[in-house]
Amino acid sequence: MILVTGTGGALGQLIVGELAGRDDVVLGTRTPRSTTERRVDFDDPSSLDFTGVDTLLIVSAGYGEDDVVIARHDAAISAAEKAGVRHVIYTSLSGDGDHLPYALAHRWTERRLQVGPLAWTILRNGLYAEFLAAIAAPGPDGTIAAPLGTGRLAAVARADLATVAARVAAEPARHAGRVYELVGERALGGADLAAAIGGSYEPCSLGAAREAITEAGEALPYQVPMLVGTYSAIAGGFLDGDAIEDNALRALLGREPSSALDAYKAAVAG
Ligand SMILES: NC(=O)c1ccc[n+]([C@@H]2O[C@H](COP(=O)([O-])OP(=O)(O)OC[C@H]3O[C@@H](n4cnc5c(N)ncnc54)[C@H](OP(=O)(O)O)[C@@H]3O)[C@@H](O)[C@H]2O)c1
Repeated sequence: MILVTGTGGALGQLIVGELAGRDDVVLGTRTPRSTTERRVDFDDPSSLDFTGVDTLLIVSAGYGEDDVVIARHDAAISAAEKAGVRHVIYTSLSGDGDHLPYALAHRWTERRLQVGPLAWTILRNGLYAEFLAAIAAPGPDGTIAAPLGTGRLAAVARADLATVAARVAAEPARHAGRVYELVGERALGGADLAAAIGGSYEPCSLGAAREAITEAGEALPYQVPMLVGTYSAIAGGFLDGDAIEDNALRALLGREPSSALDAYKAAVAG
């Protein structure tokens, strides 16, 4: 049996779509809506009974401070160990993402798996093209005002990452002990994004972005440095994919990766 967590989220839903047709897949979510779904909340140990699960696909539950996220992932892995799960797959963060404010919890989780007794596979996902659409969205006049400087992001279509996760979950033993880097093959900068939507790119400062995020009032306190740190890492040239030596995306997809620019455009169009 394969249990996928976070199936109410965007990545989890896509993974479930990829696994459709199999009768051995259980959908884990904090809020089950049907009998085929099972309540799985990393914050609630009583919901973490993985009895009978062979392969646990943990979609990272990254919304929180480091200690919160670490505790969640630790609880999920500990429960898997207790239940005798054979193989844990974890959706992590690309190796060039170590400057990102949320990298630590991912690396902690990778290490937790690597020193533990279970078979594991780590999927080091690059930042989604859809996430880029959120942080570099055009305004009503088509202007993208974001502090990306001349930096570029090796963004990847979220759907491609779901396809890879499902393929690995279907044949986990083939992928045991592997850390896969999964980033886009073409890095996108502000000018590329603007050209794709027929708009313009007007880079702003990190300070201006921090002010705008804070003033909008939608971000929780811990999210402000996360967003600003993401811009900073892209602008600093850390996430353009050049530092990734072994990008496994194409090989694990078994085809050409989807266009991240198309995914960006589709997400922007809503
Ligand atoms: N690579 C990127 O660009 C990027 C961007 C944003 C986030 N991420 C990370 O990748 C993960 C998946 O991305 P996504 O696009 O699917 O994000 P998403 O649509 O926001 O979904 C996140 C899901 O995480 C699950 N979750 C949250 N708290 C949880 C908890 N306490 N226990 C168990 N599950 C919990 C929830 O699933 P249920 O609703 O089913 O409980 C939630 O829907 C995120 O959680 C985050 O860690 C990556």
